[in-house]
Amino acid sequence: MVAQQFDLIVMGGIAATINGIAPADIGVLGGKIVAIGDIRGSGARVVDAKGLHILPGVIDTQVHFREPGMEYKEDLASGTAAAVLGGVTGVFEMPNTRPSTTTAELLADKFRRARGRVRCDIAFYVGASPENVAELAELERMPGCAGIKIFMGSSTGNLLIPDDRTLEQVLRNGRRRVAVHAEDEDRLRERAESIRKGGDVASHPDWRDVDTALHATRRLLDIARRAARRVHVLHVSTVEEIDLLARHKDIASVETTPQHLTLVAPECYEKLGTFAQMNPPIRDERHRAGLWRGVTQGIVDVIGSDHAPHSREEKAKPYPESPSGMPGVQTLLPLLLDHCHAGRLSLERVIDLTSAGPARLFGIVGKGRIAVGYDADLTVVDLRARRKIDNSWIASKCGWTPFDGVSVTGWPKMTIVRGNVVMRDDEIVGDAIGEPIKFTEGSW
Ligand code: DOR
Repeated sequence: MVAQQFDLIVMGGIAATINGIAPADIGVLGGKIVAIGDIRGSGARVVDAKGLHILPGVIDTQVHFREPGMEYKEDLASGTAAAVLGGVTGVFEMPNTRPSTTTAELLADKFRRARGRVRCDIAFYVGASPENVAELAELERMPGCAGIKIFMGSSTGNLLIPDDRTLEQVLRNGRRRVAVHAEDEDRLRERAESIRKGGDVASHPDWRDVDTALHATRRLLDIARRAARRVHVLHVSTVEEIDLLARHKDIASVETTPQHLTLVAPECYEKLGTFAQMNPPIRDERHRAGLWRGVTQGIVDVIGSDHAPHSREEKAKPYPESPSGMPGVQTLLPLLLDHCHAGRLSLERVIDLTSAGPARLFGIVGKGRIAVGYDADLTVVDLRARRKIDNSWIASKCGWTPFDGVSVTGWPKMTIVRGNVVMRDDEIVGDAIGEPIKFTEGSW
């Protein structure tokens, strides 16, 4: 029994600590976990977690929050509100804003905007461009920087490193793991006119086909090996890449998304039309099954949401004027808990993919596990709650989700960031207390 003074005690839950999943109270002081076990503390705020599971705070390592420049789609306040409603305690935000985050000043500007407005902890990526190659090693070490992001193929925004020479320069300039959108720009351009069918979003995966992704990933792996640089392949969408990346685990880590694991072509295009359009695309069952094999065989390291909101009006434009991307930060955990309930992956694996994995891969300091001395980032979930996801629950400014009307088993009940309860029973509570995430390889 532990008797001491705490700021907060999460009492009576089943905690997924470093020593396993078992009943345990969690004592928090000064934002850190200070005790785990049978706690008899006093003077504390006590939250009752009876019947609930306490997971390490979920870290979503790929979100697009659109600020600055496209705040009508999302901003840092609305994006992080969506995050904590979905049980997410930390996010890595992408650099394809307007302007793109390519300089120290623009990165500092994002942190200025975040202060007092973000509800979870946050790190920002810096985008690689031909103009900032020489500064990347310095930029990636700035406090709160998640690392460098490369777009090998064009997507939303104008960040692009299409050729091998510049790609190699980028990879030679710095040390940290580089996150990469691997689609081959030349192949995209060559085939845009001949393959893409105006008005038919189901041709999206034909245009941005398996070889578009596979060629880029192959080129990336060759150059990463030459440059001896670790890379992180974002939103992997093909079984061919899973098989390839399985042979390169020493140098490349792998992300896939809940959308690619849950939606499937052609049904998603029949049901959702352009609202199912994203880059890389949702593909057929062969790929979805291959991605699940990647999850169960340990080839996939993290699941990120690629939260990429666009307004309903924009998404309703006829293909291909319709922008690619769907929101996802709020539905990432409910979908994964539902897959867990259905027996597709274990709760331990959910934790590995959404907190322990991101912390280990990116060298996050003090997060990703429930252990004494770590930040008290806790995602409290009800594994038995049966709930329907619907648009009215969505806090993103876009106001829609591709999973509207989908019932899931497993739901976030409470989100706690460094000891602050920021969401309880689908309500945002308290102030916007988010801070920059710290990294072992950054400077601070
Ligand atoms: O579908 C996508 N949308 N893929 C990306 O890589 C970018 C994202 C966005 O920012 O809209």
